[in-house]
Amino acid sequence: MYLAPSQIRVVHLEITSKCNLLCPACARVENGAVNSRLPIGEMEWSRGVERFFSSEFCSQLDYLYICGNYGDAAAASGLTQFVEHLFARGLKGISICSNGSLRTPEWWAALGQMLKGRGQLVFSIDGIGEVNAKYRRGSSWEKILANLEAVSQTGVFLRWDFIVFRHNEHQIDEVRALARRLGFNQINFRSPSRLSLQPTLGFEPPLNPQFAPQNARQMSQIQEKYGTFDRYAKQTRVHCKTQLDSGSIYIDFRGEVWPCCWVGAPRYLSHEDRQRRDLEKMIGKYEPGFNSIENFTLEEILAHPFFARDLEQSWHDPESRLFTCGRTCGESFEYTCLPRYGNSHMETLATNPDFNWVWD
Ligand SMILES: C[S@@+](CC[C@H](N)C(=O)[O-])C[C@H]1O[C@@H](n2cnc3c(N)ncnc32)[C@H](O)[C@@H]1O
Ligand code: SF4
Ligand code: SF4
Repeated sequence: MYLAPSQIRVVHLEITSKCNLLCPACARVENGAVNSRLPIGEMEWSRGVERFFSSEFCSQLDYLYICGNYGDAAAASGLTQFVEHLFARGLKGISICSNGSLRTPEWWAALGQMLKGRGQLVFSIDGIGEVNAKYRRGSSWEKILANLEAVSQTGVFLRWDFIVFRHNEHQIDEVRALARRLGFNQINFRSPSRLSLQPTLGFEPPLNPQFAPQNARQMSQIQEKYGTFDRYAKQTRVHCKTQLDSGSIYIDFRGEVWPCCWVGAPRYLSHEDRQRRDLEKMIGKYEPGFNSIENFTLEEILAHPFFARDLEQSWHDPESRLFTCGRTCGESFEYTCLPRYGNSHMETLATNPDFNWVWD
């Protein structure tokens, strides 16, 4: 079985599919516009959510990570209400991820106050000044800076996530200096690890070998050994990151539970997409809503054949294996740039004596 309810330590929550930006490699974006198959919506504090996040379950978790595949947490109108409810139910920590280019300095200062000492804010900002908008399309540097200035006054734990591309690598020292001035605790310099699979997007990896994605070299070895990346993804040994490394589950903006954000993402990709075809083949035999927190309890969802049998069995069977699992958790290619994996380069600028969490 994937995990028993008592083994869950972290929940990754996608509170909305709304976002103000159009970052070219994001799943919400297709040919420069919002992916037409993506429903735009956000989670409400419904009966299903209330049942799922019981006080007992909240107290068992190390933390809740509000991020997702398709939206920006700060775009959700109910974000602060969720944070209040969840802390009231005994949640120990909440980490929230945002592009920072929306809302007002006052709104961010209030959120920072709520999270201080028990939460973290992660800002995805890939450049200073106009450079940020080269990848973070539609972002406003003035807005970001004003929001960061406001939130830095609150003393909340702050992390800057910076994807290092060729077009922004000259700003690395400037980012360090600004992050220090604004009181950031950490910077996560991320190698642009998706570029090896999306070389046509028009973005280049950095020249600095320290931040170049490890998987570019891995890709040529894979092609030599397996012929194609698809064949590798079907045949490689799978080490499920969320089952074995973090003990986590993912809930999308419609309240559907998946093992991880990577398996949850293909739902709204194109029908022609390899990942979506594989997922539909696996879940097509189940009743719709089999994994919805509105219909079922966490115990029932994790006992469903998808979690209890089929997903894990598929890791040992090239026929039923999801391409997504082989790509993301195969043994010879590092896809993710999340903390603790090879494409993440975390730098600590300031420790926070009141706060010793280790976050993803
Ligand atoms: C879809 S975003 C949702 C959260 C929020 N909107 C944001 O951008 O931080 C989830 C994660 O994907 C990351 N991301 C976006 N484009 C990426 C890329 N090309 N390579 C790696 N991660 C990327 C974001 O930085 C963020 O950490
Ligand atoms: S800010 Fe986040 S959710 Fe929005 S387009 Fe960029 S990566 Fe996607
Ligand atoms: S992609 Fe598959 S193997 Fe990897 S974390 Fe998700 S469920 Fe586990």
